[in-house]
Amino acid sequence: MAYMQWQDSFSVKVKELDDQHKVLLGMVNTLHDAMLANKGREVQKKIIYEMVDYATIHFSTEERYMRRFNYPEYPTHKLEHDDFTTKALDLKNRADEDGFILTLEVLSFLKDWLQNHILGTDSSYSRLFNSHGLC
Ligand code: FEO
Repeated sequence: MAYMQWQDSFSVKVKELDDQHKVLLGMVNTLHDAMLANKGREVQKKIIYEMVDYATIHFSTEERYMRRFNYPEYPTHKLEHDDFTTKALDLKNRADEDGFILTLEVLSFLKDWLQNHILGTDSSYSRLFNSHGLC
């Protein structure tokens, strides 16, 4: 069973954003698999780089819609994105160092953050986005 499993409750009712969330979940799973298989630092680093880059693209997509539709919770939502980005960049930097070891603690942080953010913060924009024709 995958480390992170997509559930219907994760849907934010916008296909483009659900698809992006699925990619992010898949990346966490790939990273988890790489850790279990004792893949080297270079492999793990590559996945971490891709995941951080993709998260940035995803956050930009959501934030663009939030600004376009004058979403009132945009500032607090963006703060959560920025906080995650700071932590993700720190992970990216650490992956560059010799002796970097990916731990279950890091994976668990990624998993919990994504899950809580999608189910809590992201789901709040569904109604507004849908009302502007995004579905
Ligand atoms: Fe899907 Fe707000 O990140």
